[in-house]
Amino acid sequence: MSEYPNRVLYTPYTDKIISAEEAALYIKDKMIVGSSGFTKAGDSKAVLPAFAKRAEYEKVAITLLTGASLGHTTDSDLANNDALYKRIPFQVDNSLRKKINDGAILYMDQHLSETAEMLENKHFPALDIAIIEACYIDPAGNIIPTTSIGNSATFAHLAKNIIIEINTAIPFDFQGIHDVYLPTTYPRREVFNITSTSDRIGEDYIKIDPEKVIGIVFTEMTDSPAQTSEPDDKTDQIANHLIQFFEKEVAEGRLTDSLMPLQAGIGKIANAVLGGLGKGHFNNLTMYSEVLQDSAFELFDKGKLLCASASSITVTEACYNKLLTNFGDYKEKIILRPQNISNSPEIIRRLGVIAINTAIEFDIYGNVNSTHLSGTNMMNGIGGSGDFARNSYLSVFVCPSVSKEANIISNVVPMVSHVDHTEHDVDILVTEQGLADLRGLAPRERAKAVIENCVHPEYREQLQDYFKRACERGGHTPHLLEEAYSWHINLRKNGSMMLKEKQLAKTASI
Ligand code: COA
Repeated sequence: MSEYPNRVLYTPYTDKIISAEEAALYIKDKMIVGSSGFTKAGDSKAVLPAFAKRAEYEKVAITLLTGASLGHTTDSDLANNDALYKRIPFQVDNSLRKKINDGAILYMDQHLSETAEMLENKHFPALDIAIIEACYIDPAGNIIPTTSIGNSATFAHLAKNIIIEINTAIPFDFQGIHDVYLPTTYPRREVFNITSTSDRIGEDYIKIDPEKVIGIVFTEMTDSPAQTSEPDDKTDQIANHLIQFFEKEVAEGRLTDSLMPLQAGIGKIANAVLGGLGKGHFNNLTMYSEVLQDSAFELFDKGKLLCASASSITVTEACYNKLLTNFGDYKEKIILRPQNISNSPEIIRRLGVIAINTAIEFDIYGNVNSTHLSGTNMMNGIGGSGDFARNSYLSVFVCPSVSKEANIISNVVPMVSHVDHTEHDVDILVTEQGLADLRGLAPRERAKAVIENCVHPEYREQLQDYFKRACERGGHTPHLLEEAYSWHINLRKNGSMMLKEKQLAKTASI
């Protein structure tokens, strides 16, 4: 509380300071709550955990909207204590995932650019409470956000009441990296006037109505660090294929060595690809993405990246410490925006963003599944991959050609078991086997490119055979509907997507 005079510069809030437990009591059963937090960054670290604790002994559950995933164990604690009725728009938590797949918690998996739009346009019920992490409160009562913005500006704008969590672990230096803009209303909405990744169109604070503030809570806790695994042979091979492709595009005059603004999704492959760009002949790169991971800061350090725009900073502990120690070196080069601006289809198309996202599986025609294991079980969610893929200059999807031990799962299949990105939104597919450039290709050509370049050798013949027999039957996009899901059915029944005879031959040869 000693920090109070420094961190709350608006005097009428003096009597609003309460404990997290007191703040959590404002949250009633069946309320709709919007909380800050985007891929673990800038999340509620006191009030939501206190609410989860309360749910241990009281029957109380809410619909919770955030920017994206929450950090620490908040999503787990809420899920395990049955404190969630519905969760929107993204998650990455094991316990929550299990409850979602058991049908115990409802989940609306949504394009990350859309939540704020749907709230503002009243397609969702009204928000009762917004909980927003702040670095400090300025003399006008406005919020200086922390490591993310996500949907916080919209939540603060629309919620009936606001609880502010002041996190004293966040240095005052964070003031100035944000660019908060609330789109004007329809019809004749104003254009988002961003023509370069470094353009600013808003304020560096979240404007709020002080009358709505019902509590101010103090915390001192850093974001939970990103878990990244070291690049391995497969991620390196994927990165190399893509880097060679970019070099070819530069050589043939379709790109310059600055490429176009880059977006990279979450996960180790996208991180490895961005890291790989640091080794290529690329310079003066820019990012228009939604999350800044370690690789962005490595590119800054190498002098390769000029400017990075996103909605959050989600980095490992080592990178976070480096960022804080040398914040001055990065501050002018980073802009954090609301996620309906960082992921705005209008801006992504205008800037010509190169989007690099990870697939769970893709099919011979280039349809991509990013969310569902075997067509049924939710993994994480679509996140921003759809916002970017549909509107990008080049839409790239990466994934290993096979998953699990003994290559029992092929990630290249006859027909995806769930479609997040249709073939119309996908230009380039990359596995460690190679890269399929699908631009300008008709479905039958696409299938050949995918089978020749992306599928694992152990599945190539099986996929070729499927495609050959499908072509014999005919059609613009040939399929054998009775067999299209046989690979997934094999996996469920026999523990492998491989045909039984191939499996037996493989076992016999070991
Ligand atoms: N069928 C069944 N299971 C599969 C599979 C398939 N085709 N492909 C992968 N899996 C399993 C993996 O074996 C792994 O399971 P495990 O945890 O039991 O080992 C799990 O799915 C996740 O695979 P992993 O390789 O660890 O994934 P990742 O960390 O590289 O993430 C996505 C990949 C697709 C899950 C992730 O990128 C994602 O959630 N994407 C959607 C959101 C998005 O793209 N956002 C971008 C903007 S930020």
